[in-house]
Amino acid sequence: MSTPVAIYVHLPWCVRKCPYCDFNSHVSPEALPEAEYVAALLADLERDLDLADGRPVASVFLGGGTPSLFGAGAIAELFDGIAARLAFLPDVEITMEANPGTIEHGRFAGYAKAGVNRVSLGAQSFDADRLRVLGRIHGPAEIASAVAELADAGLANFNLDLMYALPEQTRESALADVEAAIALGPAHLSHYQLTLEPGTAFFHRPPPLPDDDLAWQMQLDCQERLASAGFAHYEVSAYAQPGRQCRHNLNYWRFGDYLGIGAGAHGKLTVDGKVVRTEKPRSPRAYLEAGGRAGSRHVVEAEVLPFEFMLNALRLRTGFTLAEFEGATGQGAEVIRPALAALEARGLLNADGARLQPTELGFRFLNDLMAEFLPATPASRPALRTRGPVPAAG
Ligand SMILES: C[S@@+](CC[C@H](N)C(=O)[O-])C[C@H]1O[C@@H](n2cnc3c(N)ncnc32)[C@H](O)[C@@H]1O
Ligand code: SF4
Repeated sequence: MSTPVAIYVHLPWCVRKCPYCDFNSHVSPEALPEAEYVAALLADLERDLDLADGRPVASVFLGGGTPSLFGAGAIAELFDGIAARLAFLPDVEITMEANPGTIEHGRFAGYAKAGVNRVSLGAQSFDADRLRVLGRIHGPAEIASAVAELADAGLANFNLDLMYALPEQTRESALADVEAAIALGPAHLSHYQLTLEPGTAFFHRPPPLPDDDLAWQMQLDCQERLASAGFAHYEVSAYAQPGRQCRHNLNYWRFGDYLGIGAGAHGKLTVDGKVVRTEKPRSPRAYLEAGGRAGSRHVVEAEVLPFEFMLNALRLRTGFTLAEFEGATGQGAEVIRPALAALEARGLLNADGARLQPTELGFRFLNDLMAEFLPATPASRPALRTRGPVPAAG
């Protein structure tokens, strides 16, 4: 059977724009154009079918924005439409991002019926004051009731997103957030350091944030607590119970192929040995006006591929093998040997065994590791970015 692909679906609307968020998310119109948007998504997928070449689907990820603003009927229609065009593997992982402030009674049961089997809930913090400063539309109580709704719907495979190094946060309160998250029994936890992203309200008017040393202490405290609760730290920001790693994100980090549909979505597919990147119109209005039938494609220059591979693979604790590098990039290991040797000499990379893995120090200074693989020509240099789970969301 041919190698499976993943599908990223971007749903770009939110109730309100959070002041720290640079995702392609927009305040929702009064009436969400659900049917129109689903029709555009399917037309979009249709246009990319030549790139997918009949490969089966191992995972689908509905990201945002706030996908949980869409009703279960629209989501079911979307999945039916995808399944009519590409075959789902029997154990396909279908994740939906949800904001606890949008979950009324029975909502998750409808999504589960439509085919969702994994949910990623944006908790961010369990401290009411922190949630207010972050501009969230929910308090701690809504997070707990959304988790109760998940249980009622039989959705045991769920993730909680938490952020730390929040405005005026103390070490104790960062750890208390992790404690409260563990108490809700998630299968997975994403723990992101709050970053000030250009173009956001926080970037223009920065709130008082903990310094780097304090943020690092917070990470170590939380890491230790999560380890004692049985969560393996398998990626920079990701922790999972045994067997509960996010397969969709693992595919990104292994430099696997994925289709990207929806406003601003990016895709990456290997076609005849070349890596093709796709990009869709970013504005929801432009996307809808084109009925999902717009976007661009370009072949990634061979010179940039090793860097792009490292940008993903070095985020994993288990790193990568040279065979995986060669398989994913189509390039011989000799092109990266000098960089690997330099990183080993600096104590940032462990190359003792079959796998090449960042050391503890390397994990802390991941940008330095990745920078070693930047192509020589400045014009073709992609941006360095180590935050966030979704290279596809934009
Ligand atoms: C698309 S959102 C998740 C779903 C939903 N929109 C929500 O916020 O509840 C993806 C996640 O990225 C993280 N995130 C967004 N902006 C961030 C930033 N500036 N720094 C760190 N993490 C950020 C948040 O944890 C957020 O839950
Ligand atoms: S963090 Fe989530 S809810 Fe807030 S604006 Fe970004 S995508 Fe929307």
